[in-house]
Amino acid sequence: MKPSTSILAAILAAAVAAQVQPAGVTRPIVEHCGSNGGVVCVNKYSAVLPYHFNRSISNNQADYDYRNTSVGNASTFDLLKTADFVVFDRQRGLQYLGDNPSYEFMFSVSSAVHEAPIYAPKQNLLFISQLAPPTGVLPQLLVDLNQDPPTLSNYTPNPPIYAPNGGTFRNGQLLFAASGGNDSLGGIEQRVSLRTVDPATNQSTVLLNNYFGFYFNNMDDVVVHPTSRDIFFTDPDYSYFNGLTDTAPQLPAASYRFDPESGAVFLIDDTIQQPNGIAFSPDGSTLYISDTGAVYGAIAPGYRGQGTTFNTTGKRTIYAFDVANNGTRVSNKRAFYLAQDWVPDGLKVSREGLVLTGSGHGVDVLDDVGQLLIRIQTNYTVQNFAWTGENLTTLWLMGNYGISKVEWNITGQTLV
Ligand SMILES: *[C@@H]1O[C@H](CO)[C@@H](O)[C@H](O)[C@H]1NC(C)=O
Ligand SMILES: *[C@@H]1O[C@H](CO)[C@@H](O)[C@H](O)[C@H]1NC(C)=O
Ligand SMILES: *[C@@H]1O[C@H](CO)[C@@H](O)[C@H](O)[C@H]1NC(C)=O
Ligand SMILES: *[C@@H]1O[C@H](CO)[C@@H](O)[C@H](O)[C@H]1NC(C)=O
Ligand SMILES: *[C@@H]1O[C@H](CO)[C@@H](O)[C@H](O)[C@H]1NC(C)=O
Ligand SMILES: *[C@@H]1O[C@H](CO)[C@@H](O)[C@H](O)[C@H]1NC(C)=O
Ligand SMILES: *[C@@H]1O[C@H](CO)[C@@H](O)[C@H](O)[C@H]1NC(C)=O
Ligand SMILES: *[C@@H]1O[C@H](CO)[C@@H](O)[C@H](O)[C@H]1NC(C)=O
Ligand SMILES: *[C@@H]1O[C@H](CO)[C@@H](O)[C@H](O)[C@H]1NC(C)=O
Ligand SMILES: *[C@@H]1O[C@H](CO)[C@@H](O)[C@H](O)[C@H]1NC(C)=O
Repeated sequence: MKPSTSILAAILAAAVAAQVQPAGVTRPIVEHCGSNGGVVCVNKYSAVLPYHFNRSISNNQADYDYRNTSVGNASTFDLLKTADFVVFDRQRGLQYLGDNPSYEFMFSVSSAVHEAPIYAPKQNLLFISQLAPPTGVLPQLLVDLNQDPPTLSNYTPNPPIYAPNGGTFRNGQLLFAASGGNDSLGGIEQRVSLRTVDPATNQSTVLLNNYFGFYFNNMDDVVVHPTSRDIFFTDPDYSYFNGLTDTAPQLPAASYRFDPESGAVFLIDDTIQQPNGIAFSPDGSTLYISDTGAVYGAIAPGYRGQGTTFNTTGKRTIYAFDVANNGTRVSNKRAFYLAQDWVPDGLKVSREGLVLTGSGHGVDVLDDVGQLLIRIQTNYTVQNFAWTGENLTTLWLMGNYGISKVEWNITGQTLV
């Protein structure tokens, strides 16, 4: 008996439907793993996804991260939605999460950018800045870790620091990279500068505020070299777009080293479009700088304060450099990691040499060759993070709308 044409058509259609699925899909694509329900593993990095899949492009209003990818015929992909930790390398990822990792949302905060986290170990306090919108000198924030549960309050050093964007601990002092410029805020002139605050007295001091008379554009993030203790910082253009400075950029977007003893400033790189996060490996022999050029505005008259847009094909790469001669020779720039979400903003290296970056709604944890081991997932854009506690094992994350904390088996570098 000859099959009818409709049955033939149905068989053909079924064959076509089956054929569209690639053979290499590793199933399950996502599964629970680890010691608690907050942890899921993605098998083989989901290197082959079933068709049809499609990830929408993030914009300034909505962040579509990896978990928001629509994937046909892959119900396990939904496990990503509620996971706190997504493990990509099962063996190392679970070891670095430890026996009972936890993620806890701690404080809802405003849409202002929350950055420059600095842990003062002696006082057991965590300082956090807020820098937008441009409504004068916003108070900074202080998380008191001596309280149980920790408390959040405003903090203003004397004199106040306008728009601190980066922060780290150096020599018993809080070290801020202040990113704004204005002739008169609360009666004092504020310029883009490196500032210190003594956490015992709250007194602030300026360490550096010009390059041979030029204003810096937007000191963004700052780190201390572990053996020379020189200060390395990035200087992109964002303050102009965000209306935080009254002056258009006067210097190329660049990264610098500053020796506070001699006062000398050294250019270390001017090839990165928008240098942002900056961090050293524990021995100081590798420097990481992120390029967030995918978020950008236009340096044009009248553009001040117009904000930025996200361009998914723009730069959102972490670069690695070799560092020699006690921090004085920086060479061999190489691509290290392309952020899988948004742009790689805050950047820190753990005691184990793992590289962490805040990118969109989460933090990516990479090994020293740039392999993604773990992603912490959040429901707000993480701008930066810092380790706290006696053994630096708690990681506090902060950004627009949220402050949260993670307990795990990844530790911060000794504070210098
Ligand atoms: C969906 O995936 C299952 C394996 O989990 C497979 O047997 C089935 O053929 C797939 N369906 C389609 C339409 O590809
Ligand atoms: C992917 O999704 C976006 C937004 O939902 C849509 O505009 C686009 O056409 C889709 N592309 C493909 C290839 O499915
Ligand atoms: C992405 O997925 C999360 C988890 O399901 C959801 O809360 C969020 O709204 C999604 N984002 C967008 C832009 O759809
Ligand atoms: C924590 O990580 C270290 C390596 O940094 C490892 O030796 C140890 O076994 C890990 N602990 C747990 C509980 O997995
Ligand atoms: C300086 O800041 C004040 C207070 O926010 C603001 O009103 C003024 O416009 C700013 N000046 C310039 C030149 O941006
Ligand atoms: C410094 O500021 C903190 C928090 O506002 C406050 O508790 C402390 O008393 C201040 N220290 C001095 C010496 O004023
Ligand atoms: C690096 O420089 C600092 C500051 O000059 C000095 O104290 C330290 O001994 C130097 N370290 C090495 C390894 O040369
Ligand atoms: C986005 O970035 C790419 C690569 O830098 C560039 O070619 C393109 O013109 C940019 N698009 C917009 C709309 O700026
Ligand atoms: C994030 O989730 C917490 C609860 O886990 C909630 O309180 C908070 O409002 C959420 N924030 C955003 C920006 O969705
Ligand atoms: C820090 O580590 C030491 C040594 O392992 C331990 O005795 C101490 O309890 C730890 N502190 C905290 C707060 O976990």
